[in-house]
Amino acid sequence: MSKYETEDKITELITQKELEDRIKELGEEISRNHAGHSVHLICILKGGVYFMTELSKYITVPVTLGFMSVSSYGSGTVSSGIVKIEKDLDESIEGRHVIVVEDIVDTGYTLSYLLEMLKARKPETLELCTLLNKPDRRVKEVNIDYCGFGVPDQFIVGFGLDKDQKYRNLPYIGAINE
Ligand code: IMP
Ligand code: MG
Repeated sequence: MSKYETEDKITELITQKELEDRIKELGEEISRNHAGHSVHLICILKGGVYFMTELSKYITVPVTLGFMSVSSYGSGTVSSGIVKIEKDLDESIEGRHVIVVEDIVDTGYTLSYLLEMLKARKPETLELCTLLNKPDRRVKEVNIDYCGFGVPDQFIVGFGLDKDQKYRNLPYIGAINE
């Protein structure tokens, strides 16, 4: 039983310990792949915050951080495919080894748009690291370089992911019970 008070019934899918262990592995994998140079992590706000801060602690090559906020037009939980940049990066990414850090790839609309946009800014390399992947819902193909866990087609919350801005602070990943 979770000690957190929640308005919805939430079934735990991935424990805090499982998250820690997997994020550590991802950090080590990124460090191996980028040995000898620094990486620039771009966090997609707000969902990517918990994942990026945790992940960055396990990356042993030099790390710099950037933040970006995007929204997709559309209501509730349905992505429309039209992505709006709410907050852009403060710095140039030209010539840098960039890793976009995202909470979840669902339909793929957000990331396919964003990656195209960032590619045009000429980074040396551009990769995607997502904590979660919901492949059953994919509409737009997205190349994922690093993925924490696959999740079923359910509404997921916790560790950065929200339902109407709630539940980001849960230290585990759960699914809202229908
Ligand atoms: P897309 O459908 O791949 O464009 O995902 C857009 C965004 O919707 C993601 O970055 C998440 O912020 C959010 N999202 C998608 N699926 C879920 C979910 O199950 N729970 C919470 N947020 C989600
Ligand atoms: Mg997101």
